[in-house]
Amino acid sequence: MTTRRSHDARAVVTGAGSGIGRAFALELARRGSHVLCADIDIDRASETVRMIDDVGRGEATAIFCDVADVEDLRTLADRAPDLLGGPTSLMINNAGVGIGGKAVGAIGLDDWQWALDINLRGMVYGSELFLPQLRESRRGGLINVASAAAFSAAPGMAAYNVGKAGVLALSETIAAELSGTDLAVTVLCPTFVQTNVAADGRITGEAMKVAEALMRRTGRSAEQVARQTLDANDRGRLYVVPQFDAKAIWLAKRLMPRTYAFGAGLVHRIQPQLAVTRSVTATTTGAETPTTTARKRIPEGV
Ligand SMILES: NC(=O)c1ccc[n+]([C@@H]2O[C@H](COP(=O)([O-])OP(=O)(O)OC[C@H]3O[C@@H](n4cnc5c(N)ncnc54)[C@H](O)[C@@H]3O)[C@@H](O)[C@H]2O)c1
Repeated sequence: MTTRRSHDARAVVTGAGSGIGRAFALELARRGSHVLCADIDIDRASETVRMIDDVGRGEATAIFCDVADVEDLRTLADRAPDLLGGPTSLMINNAGVGIGGKAVGAIGLDDWQWALDINLRGMVYGSELFLPQLRESRRGGLINVASAAAFSAAPGMAAYNVGKAGVLALSETIAAELSGTDLAVTVLCPTFVQTNVAADGRITGEAMKVAEALMRRTGRSAEQVARQTLDANDRGRLYVVPQFDAKAIWLAKRLMPRTYAFGAGLVHRIQPQLAVTRSVTATTTGAETPTTTARKRIPEGV
């Protein structure tokens, strides 16, 4: 059954200043919605609002929000009903950053924290803080933007993969919890979409060249992906896996997990940049230091 959740909605979109978030905001406006365009870059969010003004349908307001900061998210949730004229009926956790190019052991804790705070914690807290309003609005919708990285286990992308896998698990759990209600959650899992995510992220070396080339050659348009995802949420569909390669990865991983893992290992071995990172890490870390640290921290008897 189709419920027109994306039409005349009171919507919040995080990361609405660029790429997929901007495309969601514009499409929602075309569908007559009032959109709160939240972004860490208020100039970009304001630009989206200007573009919506040009559309001549819907309404939009720009608001600063760093999704890595729980207080910013709390303020966004608190202010949304006043700014939108009622409880949020559609929440789109979209803000995210790209990170890749280093193997686990060489990523560094600062980069792990940066990526997980935005890509995972931002969406977990965004869902937690907005679900009461979505319930209040009755025919509410939640859209979480994950990625095919959630299930592809691509080497050199652990910090990204882990965050997106968490968003997939979160969305699947919420789907079970919303079962039998008029609310719907949708999780978007694309491969490449033409946006600024690679250029603005922390993707290093060869991985950056690969990401940019794939995005250019195989990337879908953000507008197409946004439309498909809003329609899926209207139909109450949980998964949006928009591209053929994403669907192939999804199937291969489920049907042949061992063969898939072997293939991922081969990919890692033929990526020169990652191979260098791996050998440098092995020679500079040394086996003594981690063992000593671990011994100090583990209490006796554990
Ligand atoms: N582009 C792709 O190929 C692709 C593929 C799979 C998933 N995704 C996911 O799509 C989502 C949108 O990314 P995009 O591709 O449109 O990238 P983008 O870089 O074009 O847009 C991301 C937006 O998020 C904002 N942002 C970044 N950090 C933020 C923070 N801490 N708080 C609030 N806003 C913040 C940026 O200012 C920007 O406006 C992300 O979650 C990304 O992981 C993208």
